[in-house]
Amino acid sequence: MTNLAIIGTQWGDEGKGKVVDLLAEGADMVVRFQGGNNAGHTLVVGDETYALHLVPSGILHEEKTCVIGSGVVVDPAVLLGEIDALVARGVRVSPENLRVSEKAHVILPYHKLLDEARESRAKDGKIGTTGRGIGPAYEDKASRCGLRLGDLRDLDYFRSRAAGALDEKNCLLAGLYGLPPVGLEQIMTLAAGWRERLAPYLCDAARLVQRASEEKKNVLFEGAQGVQLDIDHGTYPYVTSSNPGAGAVAVGAGLPPRELHAVVGLVKAYTSRVGEGPFPTELSDRTGETIRAVGREYGTTTGRPRRCGWLDAVVVRAAVRLCGIGLLAVTKLDVLAGLPELKIAVAYELDGRRIDHVPASLKDFSRVRPVYESFEGFAAGEVAGAGDYRSLPKAAKKYLAALCRSVGAEEGLVSVGPERSQTIVLRKFF
Ligand code: IMP
Repeated sequence: MTNLAIIGTQWGDEGKGKVVDLLAEGADMVVRFQGGNNAGHTLVVGDETYALHLVPSGILHEEKTCVIGSGVVVDPAVLLGEIDALVARGVRVSPENLRVSEKAHVILPYHKLLDEARESRAKDGKIGTTGRGIGPAYEDKASRCGLRLGDLRDLDYFRSRAAGALDEKNCLLAGLYGLPPVGLEQIMTLAAGWRERLAPYLCDAARLVQRASEEKKNVLFEGAQGVQLDIDHGTYPYVTSSNPGAGAVAVGAGLPPRELHAVVGLVKAYTSRVGEGPFPTELSDRTGETIRAVGREYGTTTGRPRRCGWLDAVVVRAAVRLCGIGLLAVTKLDVLAGLPELKIAVAYELDGRRIDHVPASLKDFSRVRPVYESFEGFAAGEVAGAGDYRSLPKAAKKYLAALCRSVGAEEGLVSVGPERSQTIVLRKFF
């Protein structure tokens, strides 16, 4: 029995979908515990590609239970659309294998409108959000004017809460942003439709997770985004509004903290970032363009081109330290094939001093200069076809070993292509 979390160590987009899908094989339950449909987890099985935003990436294993915990913010329309799309493709999704926390907060139309309005007005202060209403929904949760999925069961209560929230939201929408107000009846029509379809999925998800743990099942906790987007520990304010770090498993899924047994850190073999904010190893040259093109680095959720750069071990080290990561799952190693030289930032230089951590001050972080170690490249084809660790080219092994040494974790898995079969598993995870 193991309760295992998979956490993004960078700025998200490390390839969680594939790795969660793969490890779900050995799990009984797969749980999302934070974030919302700002996430985009891609799974490739044969000729089929699935892009999931809310439904846990274990869903293709139909006998597993997938859970959306209370720490997730749920746009019901997106969730229902995702369920319908999966069912239309022959994937079994029903209240038997998908359970949703009654305590999860609802993303309402005014959250999206506020997210977009703020971003378009912000000019210099733009965060580059996904525009999905994530921040405003978490704000309402914290300021205690949010609505929870369980509130849909009592539409009179839902109406009174929505009316209270709308008083303030419409002042902002109309008064500050010059947008038409959102009508209560519009919200209630949506709510009635959501209640009809979602009620069977709602449950006490925390208890479900606790029971699985008490019964010594294997539970996989699927992180979304990455540690540098963590609202406490990331590059604030260029972060998301939840905690992608491992600490959030306890809160967002309802698992007692001591029951989390292991944390796997997902590391893309290079770095990418969407949205604004400093990025010390960013490559604004042909190499960066090549990585973007070969790695198809365009947002699964928004389609935006991702900024690309060399692997930053300082960033990964921060995640290892914060989350107690023991094993790394390195993804997209194949994307680097063909580059003559590879680099890893093992430290930064700030005002002539060498530092091994990400500075809290954004100003300082914008000024750091990466201290690189250089590595020989490896040829295209040598990596994507490697069936086991031994057949990886020597140069690739050196690169991976240097990463592990620099961050203080061990290699657990290496992904060398999008297919399930293009994975080298070095350790037993469950
Ligand atoms: P929000 O989560 O939509 O509020 O966006 C805040 C920041 O997090 C923006 O820079 C987004 O691009 C980034 N972000 C949110 N979700 C993801 C993700 O799943 N992958 C990568 N970046 C993300």
